[in-house]
Amino acid sequence: MKMKHILTAAALVAASGLVQAQIDPLQARSLAASCAACHGTDGRAQPGGMVSLAGSNKNDMIKKMQDYKAGRIPAATIMHQLAKGYTDEQIEAIAGYFAAQKR
Ligand code: HEC
Repeated sequence: MKMKHILTAAALVAASGLVQAQIDPLQARSLAASCAACHGTDGRAQPGGMVSLAGSNKNDMIKKMQDYKAGRIPAATIMHQLAKGYTDEQIEAIAGYFAAQKR
């Protein structure tokens, strides 16, 4: 009986881990919304201003964010600080969101 409880608990822990690792589309959207202040609504920046993120290549964007996070882009003014605030899973979700937006 006791063993069964332990197994059930272990299964629950494993299941909740899976749930946490997945970021649903709504969460991705709200994560991406924090970029709007500078990069425009849904990543469409005003012409002549900030870089637009909408329609970016997902993998390029993940790489860029990881490079900022790791300090591999020395000329950055703000993105190297900002990128540190996101987990790898969050960065992937954000990049996926912007990649799916129309330019
Ligand atoms: C406070 C303003 C601000 C916010 C908020 C912001 N960015 Fe940026 N972003 C910049 C600036 C400024 C640059 C140019 C690099 C630098 O100076 O850091 C940049 C550059 C980038 C680049 C590189 C573009 C290129 O082609 O080189 C990417 C990708 C990017 N940002 C993604 C994001 C994402 C994703 C978010 C939200 C999680 C975000 N940014 C939020 C200001 C911002």
